[in-house]
Amino acid sequence: MMTRTLHVGFIMDGNGRWAERRGLPRSSGHKAGVKAVRRIVECAPELGIGVMTIYAFSADNWSRPAMEVNSLMKLLQLFLNRETKQCKAQGVRIEFVGRRDRLPRNLLQAIIDAEQSTINCTGLHLRIAVDYSSRDALVEAARKMAGENIFTRESMSRCLASPDMDLVVRTASEKRLSDFFLWEAAYAELYFCDVLWPDFDRDHLAQAISEFHNRTRKFGGLAKLAS
Ligand code: FPP
Repeated sequence: MMTRTLHVGFIMDGNGRWAERRGLPRSSGHKAGVKAVRRIVECAPELGIGVMTIYAFSADNWSRPAMEVNSLMKLLQLFLNRETKQCKAQGVRIEFVGRRDRLPRNLLQAIIDAEQSTINCTGLHLRIAVDYSSRDALVEAARKMAGENIFTRESMSRCLASPDMDLVVRTASEKRLSDFFLWEAAYAELYFCDVLWPDFDRDHLAQAISEFHNRTRKFGGLAKLAS
């Protein structure tokens, strides 16, 4: 029997605390966070994940100190320079979600290159949210809908061009959605854990997926009784 693959969103929290606990600069926490991304990309498919969307930089993260913003932009660029080839070899399709007009030019070029070179990959679909705000995406989609003069749930989903999520995982004890895919996560199961993102590994993800499968998704209806 073919089972449907899952779309899991990750709000990767705790990089700063991971670094602070070690007396390291916050940028070291983000570096360790990138290693965790690599780990999770490796094991996601075997755990039944077909699409993963990771929150790498929110539209509100521009308010962080310039040094931290710059180090995050550099890390993203480094990630693409180093990992795009390997992603392609593993069949991982890379796609970025979010505004592009405020990104450094080199990063933007690396994004375009990564997307183009992995566009035909049919394995894991890795969506990286950068300069992303769900509220802004909804406003943009509403504008498109007004242009088409069609105001339905379906047209909103089409204008957002972003698939519904099954599960949202947030690390480091925070229990918020923080403007992360509010429409797409309308019926997602939410999973919060205390592990800091740089420590998040296959076992933690397997635990989240196992809990997801033990939940009853009703989408507002009634639980299906086993026949
Ligand atoms: C939140 O932790 C994390 C971020 C704002 C950035 C997440 C980015 C990465 C994991 C690296 C970039 C990803 C890729 C794909 C290259 P925080 O710094 O707010 O942690 P804190 O709450 O402990 O301070």
